[in-house]
Amino acid sequence: MVFLHPYVKRMKLFIETFGCQMNFSDSEVVASVMNDQGYELCGSAAEADLVFINTCSIRENAEQRVRKRLRELKGLKKKHPGLRIGILGCMAERLREQLFDEEPLVDLIAGPDSYRKLPEMLQELDEGRRTAQVLLSEEETYADLEPVRYGSNKISAYISIMRGCQNFCSYCVVPYTRGRERSRDPESIVKEAERLVAEGYREVTLLGQNVNSYQWQQGDSVILFPELLTRVAAVSDQLRVRFATSHPKDLSDELIDVIAATPNICNHIHLPVQSGSDAVLKRMNRRYTRAWYLGRIAAIREKIPDAGLSTDLIAGFCGETEEDHRLTLDLMEQCRFDFAFMFAYSQRPGTRAAEKLEDDVPDMVKKGRLHEIITLQQRLSHTGNRKDVGKTFEVLVEGTSRKSPDQMFGRNGQNKVIVFPSGKHKPGDYVEVKVVKCTSATLIGEALE
Ligand code: 5AD
Ligand code: SF4
Repeated sequence: MVFLHPYVKRMKLFIETFGCQMNFSDSEVVASVMNDQGYELCGSAAEADLVFINTCSIRENAEQRVRKRLRELKGLKKKHPGLRIGILGCMAERLREQLFDEEPLVDLIAGPDSYRKLPEMLQELDEGRRTAQVLLSEEETYADLEPVRYGSNKISAYISIMRGCQNFCSYCVVPYTRGRERSRDPESIVKEAERLVAEGYREVTLLGQNVNSYQWQQGDSVILFPELLTRVAAVSDQLRVRFATSHPKDLSDELIDVIAATPNICNHIHLPVQSGSDAVLKRMNRRYTRAWYLGRIAAIREKIPDAGLSTDLIAGFCGETEEDHRLTLDLMEQCRFDFAFMFAYSQRPGTRAAEKLEDDVPDMVKKGRLHEIITLQQRLSHTGNRKDVGKTFEVLVEGTSRKSPDQMFGRNGQNKVIVFPSGKHKPGDYVEVKVVKCTSATLIGEALE
């Protein structure tokens, strides 16, 4: 903690975050480190002395968006020559000092495991030097840092429970940008949840690249994800607990049982399948088969009949045939996902697919298949939503609908957004809402109390 003389102007920091929930969670850790350095968060790059862009490398277009943003900042830096710009996160880790050559605007480069080093890096900047730290760690979990929940709705928060990934899916850059898998001390996770509840939060999402391989050695025993989930859920029955992301190969019956048995663990599982074809799954190094995946979905549906299910899908991976693609569409129909993140395959340098497989599905074909996947998913979402019409759900109110101020919105346990006319309700309330109609994206309801 630094103590500033009241007349010393606080430096202003603007953090922009691209990419996944994990990155948003990391930005809250960065905000905490920078807060201790006397930096105050501000609402736009125009007001800032320092801009951090927390970046994503997952697909080429994620990196292109960051490059575009840097071009936009060029004008600002001309106007305010004192403005400094830092690149954090996955792109910093992937491209390292090369970014200094490619983007002359950039003063600081910090990979995902380097955020504790930001104070000394700022010192170097003050001395007029550009600075880069990209060492990956086998231990860093930022367990003791209290994230600053800026831009939060004060209702739901992310808690990072593990970092890194070593599954090495052949298309994926994450093992290279975020390093080895490591789990965070469960005590610190439970304490963070307790603190959030005391501050009035009503929902936490436990985050990791693969939460099902969470593992913490305590004396002779090992704490695994189902136990961690149970401990966090026990913090308060007023707290909803969610988690992301699960790898299908590690989704255990025990986890399904814990979700089924614990009322405040939400009945929603995000289970990325990526493809419905065994040949493609093998080339992706996913280490499960179509039959295994369908078996997991059947187990979930049996034990948690009202479970919300979502997935990730990649269209046009190396060697994908029309028949493989049909198998993906067929699997989607069988699983009846409520929601999906859908992407065209994007080759990432350094990954096993980039090195060993040919990116041989033409762009037009990838786009065509992606379009088919998206169209099918819209139909499945709509059908799923129509089945909810007439049902009543407990909704955690998150805020006022942006589209119409006389409507509130929140989510049910299945993670579906429900909009309903605002009455006496406020964010953070649990409200029983009866669904009266729907679109493919939203349920529309009426509060019962
Ligand atoms: N190309 C397209 N999509 C990808 N994903 C990860 N890597 C790639 C890639 N190279 C998708 C996967 C993953 C989600 C986070 O991003 O579906 O589950
Ligand atoms: Fe993007 Fe993956 Fe890094 Fe998240 S972990 S920021 S999705 S590359």
